[in-house]
Amino acid sequence: MIDFKSPIGVADSGVGGLSVVRALRSELPHEDILYFGDTANCPYGNKTEEHLLMLSGNMLSFLEKRNAKCIALACNTTSALAPQLRMRIKTPIITIAECAANAVSELDVSAVGVIATKFTIAGGIYNRCIQSAAPGVAVYGIGSANLASLVERGAPDAEIDSEIRLCMDQLLKNAPLKDVILGCTHYPLVMSRFMACYPELNFIDPAPQQAIALRKHLQAEDLLAKPHRAKLTIFTTGDTEAFRAVCKENGFDDTYDMEFFHI
Ligand code: DGL
Repeated sequence: MIDFKSPIGVADSGVGGLSVVRALRSELPHEDILYFGDTANCPYGNKTEEHLLMLSGNMLSFLEKRNAKCIALACNTTSALAPQLRMRIKTPIITIAECAANAVSELDVSAVGVIATKFTIAGGIYNRCIQSAAPGVAVYGIGSANLASLVERGAPDAEIDSEIRLCMDQLLKNAPLKDVILGCTHYPLVMSRFMACYPELNFIDPAPQQAIALRKHLQAEDLLAKPHRAKLTIFTTGDTEAFRAVCKENGFDDTYDMEFFHI
């Protein structure tokens, strides 16, 4: 049975959703989190819709069976599939792409850039969500085929920088942008590389908006956890030690109660 003690589920193709866990920890510090990182199948961004429905459907069912009271779909790529995914499970799903548009409505801008996976850009979810949250804002998108995989395998800065520059130079050719949304959860994990390559730009991590949306949902449903030392349980289809190392690099240290399982 779902109650306030039930965990929040977080699903992503790999380690990228840790940027969402970081935001959840800050917005909802008492919530237990069950995280599913499908590293064995990462990257999602170059796969077909049919394949993505199968993979993300499996992740969400896994989290639902473990009693998640709601699920943060931390994967922008599969956010576009939310209508089909919501028909497969009963647990409420809050997608990052749908929340990211709220960050744009808080900016006073006429144009915004989005860098994301090829699938996310091709599906136009950011265009649709921004048009509805901030009508009239022009959206310029660029898809990267490689950046999520480079982050997932912890590639050296030089490789990450070169992929960032390849995509961003292309994006900036089309419009003189100041604000760019990192529309793939892997990218905020290398925010420092984006800022080093383009110090004049404002890069937006949408994760805090998703965390706010989850808080509002849990408040409305009277499902907020009571204060206690919260636990982060990570299920990965990849290597647990590699996952643990990425957690450490991103500030998830011993102050967090963490457990890792290979599935
Ligand atoms: N981190 C996911 C996203 O936000 C997927 C990246 C990938 O696996 O290609 O889109």
